[in-house]
Amino acid sequence: MPVVVSMLNSYSGWAACGIGFTLSNNLLIITGALVGASGAILSYIMSKGMNRSIISVVLGGFGGEQAASASGDNSDKIVKQGNAEDAAYIMKNADSVIIVPGYGMAVAQAQHALREMGDILKKEGINVRYAIHPVAGRMPGHMNVLLAEANVPYEEVLELDEINHDFPMTEVSFVIGANDVTNPAAKTDESSPIYGMPILDVERSQTVLFVKRSMATGYSGVDNELFYRDNTTMLFGDAKKMCEDIVKSLA
Ligand code: TAP
Repeated sequence: MPVVVSMLNSYSGWAACGIGFTLSNNLLIITGALVGASGAILSYIMSKGMNRSIISVVLGGFGGEQAASASGDNSDKIVKQGNAEDAAYIMKNADSVIIVPGYGMAVAQAQHALREMGDILKKEGINVRYAIHPVAGRMPGHMNVLLAEANVPYEEVLELDEINHDFPMTEVSFVIGANDVTNPAAKTDESSPIYGMPILDVERSQTVLFVKRSMATGYSGVDNELFYRDNTTMLFGDAKKMCEDIVKSLA
């Protein structure tokens, strides 16, 4: 849907540009071309981040029936659960932590509490970095904006290509309110609606902590088998509250 909105935005720019030509109005031509070009670039970036062509995004039923069937029945699988104290203990004893924020962090407005948690870990001598997937959240740059608002230093915020090879050398991946952008089905399950989307390889780190409220799926409607892995601990709760509780435990 955001891709379609962005495309329509682009069309409105090109339409204004065309009217500029008919009216011989240079200002309208220039501003129309700017709006048209930026909308087109944005649509392209979003589609690329989801590994989809613009046509398949517009025509495809992303998150519909196909997604539901891809979820499968996981009711009998076992999930390891933890709490804020467990998370604090695990991270305090690690050398490196990569934080992976997603849509849930934005919903919970957890970025300030998250930055506070990161600051405490850094004071303990732990290497803390943030990994940003190009389509994490619901619009391009969603996570970057929120982390910048919380004064997370730019040099600690790394894009997928910059950080993905570091996960195997990382002790803890702290996934907060992200789901699809970590789902290995994108690499392995050809029938999955997210197949082909590049993901953050959090499962390659020693321990994965997932902060979310339930076992619910994300935007694509696809279950994430990482939740059931041996090296995963689920931290159920609101992202902001969980970060605040971890901060208290660390203190
Ligand atoms: P999602 O896969 O949508 O997962 C977000 C997770 O956050 C959910 O599983 C949800 O689980 C959890 N959550 C929601 N509210 C929460 C809260 N208050 N506290 C803690 N957790 C909460 O998000 P993602 O990993 O960021 O991936 C983005 C998805 O959006 C991708 O599929 C992408 O293709 C799509 N998309 C992105 C864009 C752009 S440009 N960014 C545009 C269109 C579509 P619970 O309900 O269990 O808490």
